[in-house]
Amino acid sequence: MSAQSPSPVKRVTPPDIRARKGGEPIVCLTAYDAPTAALLDPHCDLLLVGDSVGMVVHGLPNTIPVTLEMMILHGQAVMRGASRAMVVVDMPFSSYERDPGQAFDNAARVLRETGAQAVKLESGVYIAETIRYLAERAVPVIAHVGLRPQAALAEGGFKAKGRDEESRRRVLDEARAADEAGAFAIVVEGVAEDLAEEITKAVKAPTIGIGASATCDGQILVTNDMLGQFDWTPRFVKRYADLKSLISEAAESYAKDVRSRAFPGPDQVYRAKR
Ligand code: KIV
Repeated sequence: MSAQSPSPVKRVTPPDIRARKGGEPIVCLTAYDAPTAALLDPHCDLLLVGDSVGMVVHGLPNTIPVTLEMMILHGQAVMRGASRAMVVVDMPFSSYERDPGQAFDNAARVLRETGAQAVKLESGVYIAETIRYLAERAVPVIAHVGLRPQAALAEGGFKAKGRDEESRRRVLDEARAADEAGAFAIVVEGVAEDLAEEITKAVKAPTIGIGASATCDGQILVTNDMLGQFDWTPRFVKRYADLKSLISEAAESYAKDVRSRAFPGPDQVYRAKR
């Protein structure tokens, strides 16, 4: 292989993430655009281009209408902004479930067209065969178990998992199956804390919790939630900023300036810069 000029920054890789099992917690956030990815990059190990983009950015009621083309476009943007964090792109609803061949074709397209390092699949037990197929063909896969947003239509909403014995066993089975099939990390969403802990102990891959447990090997949040951009956020989200007020107040001040003609023309801006 011929040597290309090496990038000065070493990007986090799937083996790096896998090696964090039981070690320093893995810091993950979602990202959907280049400037935000650039701000998050120095602080995160992993940036997920989540299909939550449909709800957070496009105002959709759930993630079902999100397309492969949307994921690729946002994946390309995030790759332009991030240089150190590993970038993972969600496979959207209906792009991987039919059979492993469909999943491989679409995952390969995502990796080729975005340059991202891995894909994530929401995984019921039936998806383990697909994870194995992809992993054996050098597609790095993160599995996503527990609350699966892409099941929102079938389940009548976003339903937390593991509230009874049968549900606990099912989530544990999903995580074990994904682990044995070769997922290099497992997102565990919306399950009871003790179940997240049991899963973390039961699998070799690091677990990345969302509304799960501090005993997971890392945590992921939807960035816009933790920045406080919306009135409503899930109960488990700690808000680290109040972006909603910041944007509203700035927009209000701007509108006031424009309406009172208290805004500079280009000549004034030019003179102020000199
Ligand atoms: O789509 C997404 O943002 C996700 C995370 C919430 C894990 O899947």
